[in-house]
Amino acid sequence: MYAYAALASLGDDVYGEPSTAALEAHVAKITGKEAALFVPSGTMSNQLALRTHLKQPPYSVLCDHRAHIHKYEAGGTAFHSGATSILVTPSNGHHLTLADIQEEIILDDNIHFAPTEVVALENTLNGTIIPQEEVIAISDWVHSKGKKMHLDGARIWHVAIETGTPLKELCDPFDSVSLCLSKGLGAPVGSCLVGTTEFIKKARGFRKLFGGGMRQTSILAASAAYALTHNFPKLIDVHALSRKLEDGLKEIGVRILSPAETCMIFFDPSTIGVDYVELVERADALPKPIKIGGSRLVLHIQTSTEAVEDLLSLLRQMAEEKKAAGFVPTDVNGKPSGNIYVRAKKPQ
Ligand SMILES: Cc1ncc(COP(=O)(O)O)c(C=O)c1O
Repeated sequence: MYAYAALASLGDDVYGEPSTAALEAHVAKITGKEAALFVPSGTMSNQLALRTHLKQPPYSVLCDHRAHIHKYEAGGTAFHSGATSILVTPSNGHHLTLADIQEEIILDDNIHFAPTEVVALENTLNGTIIPQEEVIAISDWVHSKGKKMHLDGARIWHVAIETGTPLKELCDPFDSVSLCLSKGLGAPVGSCLVGTTEFIKKARGFRKLFGGGMRQTSILAASAAYALTHNFPKLIDVHALSRKLEDGLKEIGVRILSPAETCMIFFDPSTIGVDYVELVERADALPKPIKIGGSRLVLHIQTSTEAVEDLLSLLRQMAEEKKAAGFVPTDVNGKPSGNIYVRAKKPQ
């Protein structure tokens, strides 16, 4: 990756930087879109997309209630675009369906409501994959109503690898897609927003306005090009390792809140008497420390089999300690309570 970065051009991306332009052209090509824009973060990419699609309030953006654009982008949809969010809970507990969206979307001209202009999906969402037939059904219907489709595809690479579906096919149903280079792919910085030439031209203007027009981006773009070529294919092994971790957790009696469809597992160790805070502390104290933030385990191209085995051994040992102290393991199939994304915070 360093070698790629060292060979990059050194232009100024506000005026069009050659290595960055080459990366943008490549990402546009593999996603089947006319143009791409390199941006500093996934958050900026999503927010630029919404800002570019949305012209004149009042309006709303419909998304899954767990969507990154709603929960983890600091209220950007309201701040940057003056839009309200329509949050929908999947009736199947996994992914949004056309029926869920038809139930909640605002299409009429009742002046009490903010009409939905954009339906935004996220794939993967919490590491889970939306079936492509459902995406196509949603897109066909939303487009038939004259509305736009955006995909937060920060982790779409995982879907492509796991399902063997070309990126273009996954992106075809959307007017715009945001793809992160700095997560599963392991590039140091950056995301790409893709869409039509006209859309990306407008988004490039907003990128400058948002303060995201960077200068010597080539070393980042070249690193991303390396990641696309060399790291992308490794995701298949990451997914296999995640499933191995999930199997090990189940065997110990840890409840799985959301299974390893790609690189993430949400888990609840209370079934073996362990809470997140003590697990975080014990994992951090291992000879080779493992950093855990809470209920979400994310594996990546640098996660070793050894790290997975160390974590499983630790949990096995903790389960034994709890049993010896009188804890009776609880039913792993019982209904978990609350949000699946739990941060391990020490009580104040
Ligand atoms: C699905 C999804 N979208 C968007 C983002 C935002 O990316 P960034 O952290 O680069 O702003 C993330 C970050 O984890 C994400 O998981």
